[in-house]
Amino acid sequence: MRKIQMVDLKGQYEGIKDQVNTAFKEVIENTAFINGPEVQQFQKDLEDYLQVKNVIPCANGTDALQIAMMGLGLKPGDEVITADFTFAATVEVIALLQLTPVLVDVEPDSFNIDPDAIKKAITPKTKAIVPVHLFGQAANMDAIMQIAEEHNLYVIEDNAQAIGGNYHSKSGKTLKTGAIGHIGATSFFPSKNLGCYGDGGAIFTNDDQLAHTIRGIVNHGMYERYHHDVVGVNSRLDSLQAAVLRAKLPKLDIYNEARKKAANLYNAAFQDELHIETPHRIGDCDTHVYHQYTLKIKNGKRDALAKHLQEKGIPFGIYYPIPLHQQKAYVDSRYNEADFPVTNKLVQEVLSLPMHTELDNEQIDYITGTIKEFLNT
Ligand SMILES: Cc1ncc(COP(=O)(O)O)c(C=O)c1O
Repeated sequence: MRKIQMVDLKGQYEGIKDQVNTAFKEVIENTAFINGPEVQQFQKDLEDYLQVKNVIPCANGTDALQIAMMGLGLKPGDEVITADFTFAATVEVIALLQLTPVLVDVEPDSFNIDPDAIKKAITPKTKAIVPVHLFGQAANMDAIMQIAEEHNLYVIEDNAQAIGGNYHSKSGKTLKTGAIGHIGATSFFPSKNLGCYGDGGAIFTNDDQLAHTIRGIVNHGMYERYHHDVVGVNSRLDSLQAAVLRAKLPKLDIYNEARKKAANLYNAAFQDELHIETPHRIGDCDTHVYHQYTLKIKNGKRDALAKHLQEKGIPFGIYYPIPLHQQKAYVDSRYNEADFPVTNKLVQEVLSLPMHTELDNEQIDYITGTIKEFLNT
């Protein structure tokens, strides 16, 4: 059996080696390392793929979120509602911009922000909602967009974990996650479903004016060379990363299918397990591109199972072990533990198994067999 890895970037590289090596060589020979033609071409390729009018590449997914909030003109003191159960980048940028993060609980099945909790958290100061399509499953965007419309709020989708996901809206339309709200942000961190070989990110919007504003912000607030109209940042996707992404984008759907196939094998193996709840696919939002394959291990058995996996050399992740409202950087007297029953329970139950495009049946059999044997003895 091949060595089991949480993420197998080497195996994936083997399949696109020639393309990536040739593209890298071209960038190096052209020496257009910053804003070279690959960056513009990738931007267009991604606009076509996502069916979105504007893609603005940037340096990483955290910047993408920050720049999205800057582009919307959010001001210190504005409240931004987001999920308590997510990677810290989402809340970090809210705090960095001196906006007020308002963390709310998530749904027990999808792990995504709970629309009812959003409604309860809205105040006159609320300006935006940031749903995160966690682990590759779309948040309930129909409900979120409706709340946003009723209260005149912006929706910034954190699509870092769900690129390529389809969302089947109640309107009958199938939309790409990240291209549904007013603005979307993504990460091309190497382990993401569409990852480069370093850091990278992008912002998406169908609003041309907003796109124009953001193109200046990513480039030191310049709309004309050396004229700095707004305070900006320096956040660029470099040409080598764009070259990798151009090679990988045409394969994104195939990669996501490979993840789904692995997830289905896991699901089938665990279907009768008393102590395991497999990832749910939620009604109309039947998208899941399995950035992570995350189980709930019930009846207090998660930590013992984690220890056993470690002993057996099977990699796993606990995403995330601490609710954001309990993290030192984000504690706030406004929060009440009783408002986070789902997140507080999830952090004790979740366990993510190896998930990538190169998993084979033998590896999955070994992982599922080891887990089942442990839980049933
Ligand atoms: C949900 C979420 N948001 C934002 C980010 C930030 O992306 P990056 O690491 O590219 O800054 C990540 C990546 O880890 C993420 O998982």
